[in-house]
Amino acid sequence: MSRPSQTSSPASAAMPSSHLTYSLTLRVLHWLTALCMFVVIPLAWYMTNLDRHDPLRNNWFNLHKSIGLTILLLTLIRVVTRLSGTAPTLPASIPAAEQTLAHIGHGLLYVILFAMPISGYINSYGGGHAVNWFWLFQVPAVVPQDKALSHLGSRVHYLLAYVTYALIAGHVLAVIYHQLIQRIDLLGRMTGRAGKH
Ligand code: HEM
Ligand code: HEM
Repeated sequence: MSRPSQTSSPASAAMPSSHLTYSLTLRVLHWLTALCMFVVIPLAWYMTNLDRHDPLRNNWFNLHKSIGLTILLLTLIRVVTRLSGTAPTLPASIPAAEQTLAHIGHGLLYVILFAMPISGYINSYGGGHAVNWFWLFQVPAVVPQDKALSHLGSRVHYLLAYVTYALIAGHVLAVIYHQLIQRIDLLGRMTGRAGKH
């Protein structure tokens, strides 16, 4: 499932690609995670600006936490899948320094995909606020109720939010740069298009 597919055709001459794609599982997990991230962040901005007495405030928080924990689950599955298979190597036409930067950037994005939900979880459960996952079941507590711990989780969550914004912006700009300036079809590796040439 996680083996990259390899094909070639004259169509690839117009925009050279590495002729490799991520496996279907990794592609689906990437886009599902990206979608969740683009929902959970604006949701955070919205809910943290609500009046403390807003009757729906708790529901918005619970939705943020449910999506956040879903991201953690998707990332766990993704990392296991990624490590147990092969991912396509970056095209040789990308300079070595940029390849190193890409690896560091992707690694940091994975760190964030764990650190944000875990710090949010610690913040909530340390403060004694359980998560009712999409109103279906209560997520168990694995950390003690502790004010200092909750505060630490909150600080980490808050500070890492800025790192998250920077990494996502850098990631999307890098893809645009490779795609439009270098004319290397990286997007095709994540959509499956590159493997169809
Ligand atoms: C990848 C997943 C997540 C992302 C990207 C994310 C992002 C954010 C952002 C940008 C904020 C606003 C900044 C701030 O005030 O801290 C926020 C606030 C918050 N998040 Fe998350 N979050 C995620 C997961 C979670 C999870 C899983 C929980 C709890 C189980 C959670 C609980 C909270 C809480 C309680 C706040 C309100 C601010 C506070 O009390 O510190 N978040 N989140
Ligand atoms: C419009 C938004 C996005 C686009 C267009 C995009 C595009 C891509 C592309 C084309 C790749 C493959 C790079 C390669 O060929 O090696 C990739 C990889 C990756 N993306 Fe995104 N992405 C987006 C959003 C996100 C978000 C929101 C996250 C997480 C916060 C994310 C995390 C990652 C990670 C961790 C990888 C590395 C995959 C691996 O090698 O295991 N992406 N993305």
